[in-house]
Amino acid sequence: MKVSVLLPAAGSGERIGRGPKAFLRVGGKTLLDWALEGFAWADELVVALPPGFHKDGLKSVPGGQTRQQSVYNLLQAATGEVVLVHDVARPFVVRAAVERLMEAVLAVGAATLAVPVPDTLVREEDQQYGEVISREHYRLVQTPQGFRRAILWQAHQQARSEGVEFTDDAQLVQWLGHPVALVEGDRRMFKVTYPEDLALAEGLAQVWNY
Ligand code: CTP
Ligand code: MG
Repeated sequence: MKVSVLLPAAGSGERIGRGPKAFLRVGGKTLLDWALEGFAWADELVVALPPGFHKDGLKSVPGGQTRQQSVYNLLQAATGEVVLVHDVARPFVVRAAVERLMEAVLAVGAATLAVPVPDTLVREEDQQYGEVISREHYRLVQTPQGFRRAILWQAHQQARSEGVEFTDDAQLVQWLGHPVALVEGDRRMFKVTYPEDLALAEGLAQVWNY
């Protein structure tokens, strides 16, 4: 079965403040190159780049204003029967986790990686320690997220026509009424979001081999 890997890479990286994250370097490689290497096995790779950016030898589409719009543009270019959507901001792709995900996608039609919450989870109430939430009931959602392409396409079409925006694709598919399997992720697939995450990524890059 043909698998397309779709890489939304068109964000502006505001929280880090050093331009689009796709082109930040860790361990001597851009985050985009890390993600591309992690999915080198894919039948098809498509990347959504910030408008005006281009990378030779790569199938790309222009990114949209939001992550959801970037993924919509990617989906229009994707030809695989199964699509895996993966944030370029997550440079370290753990092969075993992706294999677990693929199994669930084939069984359920939609699945995402997720990890347990390691710390105590509390509501902030007026800057005070509020209600503690039982963390064992919660998961932190990662990517890749995998779908039969037809399901994700239908969810995106519906969301566009109703004008709703979500932060990830699993949420879109769930909103459509389709079950989404939760598959054990891996903490090394963290999202580079804040400046200090670059130091963590740099450290991990030193001991990583694809
Ligand atoms: N993304 C995208 N198109 C957008 C916004 C985000 O393709 N219009 C992508 C980012 O490139 C990233 C992923 O979605 O790979 C997750 O987004 P996030 O971590 O929020 O990255 P940025 O939006 O770039 O960062 P920030 O929110 O700090 O500006
Ligand atoms: Mg963002």
